[in-house]
Amino acid sequence: MTETQAGIWGVGYAVPDRILTNQDLEQMVETSDEWIRSRTGIEERRIADSDTAASDLALAAAKKALVAAGVDASELDMIVVATISPDMAFPATACLVQDGLGAKQAAAFDLSAGCSGFVYGLDVGASLVKGGRSRVLVIGVDVLSRITDYTDRSTCVLFGDGAAAAVMGPVAAGHGVIASELGSDGSGGYHLYLPAGGSRLPASHETVTAKQHYLRMAGNDVFKFAVRIMSDSTKRVLEKAGMHHEDIRWFIPHQANVRIIKASAAKLGIDDEHLYINVNRYGNTSAASIGLALAELDEAGRLHDGDYLLMVGFGAGLTWGSMVLRWGRGEV
Ligand code: UT7
Repeated sequence: MTETQAGIWGVGYAVPDRILTNQDLEQMVETSDEWIRSRTGIEERRIADSDTAASDLALAAAKKALVAAGVDASELDMIVVATISPDMAFPATACLVQDGLGAKQAAAFDLSAGCSGFVYGLDVGASLVKGGRSRVLVIGVDVLSRITDYTDRSTCVLFGDGAAAAVMGPVAAGHGVIASELGSDGSGGYHLYLPAGGSRLPASHETVTAKQHYLRMAGNDVFKFAVRIMSDSTKRVLEKAGMHHEDIRWFIPHQANVRIIKASAAKLGIDDEHLYINVNRYGNTSAASIGLALAELDEAGRLHDGDYLLMVGFGAGLTWGSMVLRWGRGEV
């Protein structure tokens, strides 16, 4: 019996309308447009209104992905939401999306892998499809503006809000997920974390006063890890796939910092024409980032059946993940 091959049937994304520019940030903290552009490549990011939560953006992205895939919500077997800024600790944001879509047949759960969330989600989704679930919805969503301290210039210039979704299902042999490589190193967990609000340090007046409900990041440590792991993981996944970087049409890296993207690409010898970058317009949208880039490429008609794509990301955990995927369903 031949093994089922899993792939992406359709993608979609959603971002808030409100734009926060570098000039806006200049009014909020001691920073400059020049510093932010030269150190990160970011020009603007999207920020959710106070009445918009992760599940709202996730739902909007999911609806677009379902239309693109030609799948009705009632056909979904499983919904996986990758996020580190869920609506609430529980119920899972995936269950809120399940209800919003009216996906009555779907089981649903959340996955926490920081900015690697979308690639982790696709890997889990592919395993589920191979295991017999025929329609799996994978969403990466984060509203990091809710856990960002807008008086801390070292973090507040970096992040933006957004969501991206992919409907996964069986595809023809030779299409879909060709290879993936996931990993973690929890020893670096405190390089990027949210101190309070969990069972280690429950929310209290003291934690709020100490601003422990905002994310903390050791930027330099994450930067060094990122440049190393982006190229190492890319090399490993290409080897697993039995491919060379010249075979890849689009490298879709996690959009955290243009310097990280360019440094990793230079190490790998990847040309700009094969590299997709949108961090200038969205900042770091965490679990949504790679899916958002993928969905934008699709929307612009720049993905063609048979194109090989390589997605690679890193994030809180610390985690990383890369995947080679052949776009399209092929002849099923
Ligand atoms: O998805 C995973 C999430 N995280 C990341 O991917 C982040 C990875 N790290 C980075 O992208 C970079 O480390 C940052 C962009 C966060 C920082 O860039 P850097 O080149 O590593 O700068 P730095 O932290 O070494 O800071 C250099 C200087 C410092 O001043 P002094 O000590 O040299 O006087 C900072 O205080 O820049 C200062 N600085 C700023 N200045 C103006 C830090 N943030 C700002 C700012 N505006 N927003």
